[in-house]
Amino acid sequence: MAENTGTATLTIKGKTYELPMHSPTNGPDVIDIRKLYAQADVFTYDPGFTSTAACDSTITFIDGDKGELLHRGYPIDQLASQSHYLEVCYLLFYGELPSAEELEKFESLVTNHTMIHEQMHNFFRGFRRDAHPMATMVGVVGAMSAFYHDSTDINDAHQREVASIRLIAKMPTIAAMAYKYSIGQPFVYPRNDLDYAANFLHMCFSVPAETYNVNPIMARAMDRIFTLHADHEQNASTSTVRLASSSGANPFACIAAGIACLWGPAHGGANQACLEMLREIGTVDRIPEFIARAKDKDDPFRLMGFGHRVYKNFDPRAKVMKESADEVLDLMGVEDNPTLQVAKELERVALEDPYFKEKKLYPNVDFYSGIILDAMGFPTSMFTPIFALARTVGWISQWKEQLADPQLKIGRPRQLYLGETARNYVDIEKR
Ligand code: SDX
Repeated sequence: MAENTGTATLTIKGKTYELPMHSPTNGPDVIDIRKLYAQADVFTYDPGFTSTAACDSTITFIDGDKGELLHRGYPIDQLASQSHYLEVCYLLFYGELPSAEELEKFESLVTNHTMIHEQMHNFFRGFRRDAHPMATMVGVVGAMSAFYHDSTDINDAHQREVASIRLIAKMPTIAAMAYKYSIGQPFVYPRNDLDYAANFLHMCFSVPAETYNVNPIMARAMDRIFTLHADHEQNASTSTVRLASSSGANPFACIAAGIACLWGPAHGGANQACLEMLREIGTVDRIPEFIARAKDKDDPFRLMGFGHRVYKNFDPRAKVMKESADEVLDLMGVEDNPTLQVAKELERVALEDPYFKEKKLYPNVDFYSGIILDAMGFPTSMFTPIFALARTVGWISQWKEQLADPQLKIGRPRQLYLGETARNYVDIEKR
């Protein structure tokens, strides 16, 4: 628990209350209001949780002003350039960078859990071919609790670990199967001779009719995209997983809830919406029209891939992703990608515009990721499933951390009630 750092004094209707304060390793101090309602008979009010710490955590730290993102203290740009996704998974899940032996054991464990129960293939066939792959992933991941009964007991540490490894290992297989099903191609089984990212590309893009050789540049870019999406503090989908887990729900149900939340265009669905927006803009000369719409209060249109609840200067992941976009497109010989040109010009124009400066709106992780995924051959409908695949380790690490908290209580927010006071039922003939 954080150390106490004095108290906050609150005066309500002439009565004074002393609320304890705690100081974190990084970030703002917190006012502990856990006893406020019992003492003062008042709630705090914070829809959207803009000023609320819902938990304590040691996994990821974000500084919105500095554009800083640390995973267990390690900066994201160092992890993206010097580490790789499964090592970052180990770091997030166990708390420290692994030794060579620990990493080899972990990678072997994940590799040997990549297949899903053969009978689960039938689940996919219950969906329409044109179902969004996120719908398939929500359904199939939730259904894992109907197959893996030996890893649903959240009170058993071994079962918690088995469920976590299964989810990290099987998510690429499920995402690839959702993709294959949507394009009418046969499922491709995972291969143990390929690394995590290469295996995913192979399961997505290989067909029985010919040999598919994974492009190492694509595999490196894929792995980096996974790393950049691995975890991100208490974002909406992670908070969904934590809230679901607080009721004692099994891990597969909790992760399925996280996938469902991530789907929204204000969250993980923004990568799909962003590329579709860039395509709709089409050419650089149409950018002013869309900038004007984004600023128009009467127009619900927002620049997808822009803005963030926490980052108010820049999203460090966007910086790395932008470098990767240039590198991948160049190395893949995708000359002057028109979408990338529109994206770069849109970023330049927006960052010079007073509206975006005043609102502190900058490109986020979703702004460039879609351009890379598109160049790699993924349809936009697969962008958010890839985000969900990568975020699974973050969700399950936060899930594990919350279950280990001896103070864990079911999450149950209250409300500011503005409805009717009590009134008597009126028979229909008297209405
Ligand atoms: C992710 O939380 C996380 O960590 C999420 C994430 C993760 O890794 O888990 O980082 C992943 O979800 C990234 C965000 C992806 N979403 C988008 O790109 C969708 C477009 N962005 C917006 O919807 C918005 O910026 C949010 C949802 C990301 C943040 O919204 P906030 O913090 O609630 O901010 P807000 O809606 O209160 O906006 C503040 C102001 C508003 O104007 P006013 O009402 O004050 O006049 O800025 C405006 C908004 O209208 N604004 C935008 C805008 N985003 C905010 N105006 C135009 N275009 C935008 N993109």
